Amino acid sequence: MPQSTFSALDLSRLHVALIMDGNGRWANVRGWPRAAGHRAGARTVRRIVEAAREMGIGTLTVYAFSSDNWQRPGREVSALMRLFRAYLVGETRRCVENGVRLSVIGRRDRLGPELLATIETAERVTVGGEAMHFRVAIDYSARDAILRAAARLAGEEPTRETFARALGEAVHSPDGAPEVDLLIRTGGEQRLSDFLLWECSYAELFFTPKMWPDFEPADLQAAVWDFAGRERRFGRVLRATG
Ligand code: FPP
Repeated sequence: MPQSTFSALDLSRLHVALIMDGNGRWANVRGWPRAAGHRAGARTVRRIVEAAREMGIGTLTVYAFSSDNWQRPGREVSALMRLFRAYLVGETRRCVENGVRLSVIGRRDRLGPELLATIETAERVTVGGEAMHFRVAIDYSARDAILRAAARLAGEEPTRETFARALGEAVHSPDGAPEVDLLIRTGGEQRLSDFLLWECSYAELFFTPKMWPDFEPADLQAAVWDFAGRERRFGRVLRATG
């Protein structure tokens, strides 16, 4: 779908968040190990980032690893950490070429030194990217981030703005991101799973039964198209009827 189709929407101001669910089931039905599903999922991430940038979306945040995911079997966790590192190593140059700024949000104190160094390099070399801000949530928990932000502001009278800033600092994203406009979850479940709870206060939610490895650019376009037809009221009345 060409960008002109979304002409009423300023996509450069749009923040899309993605819960990429269904890698494991996608692999299971093929009789493959879960790690194969995650590898296919990483290929989908690459395609969707490219599509989002081509559509002109301003900010894209993907949920790659929740803080609760540490409870998965050690083998799966290690495979995911290796995959994140390989992805960042492989994609950083493409991000630079395409004007994509890459940031990782979440805790960093539990990540291995090699992944940490790769994250820092990716963030440093892509910092000038202005076409799209691509954020990857790793060891991320919205509730923990909210607790850390509250602790940072202890003794102060917070406003929404100062709290949002503290929240950004709590997840290593000091210049933050706009609030989420559209949250998409693949894999058929309909829940937020501790992702961007504060930032999704007025997000429009879009759930699809497609497993993440099967999610295509056309699905992203369809979700944005659906979003474009929603009436966002932010608690107000748009058409007074008496
Ligand atoms: C949830 O699906 C998915 C994850 C916990 C991992 C997400 C990781 C990727 C999409 C691949 C790599 C990401 C990057 C950024 C390179 P699940 O495995 O829990 O699926 P299931 O519900 O079917 O078991």
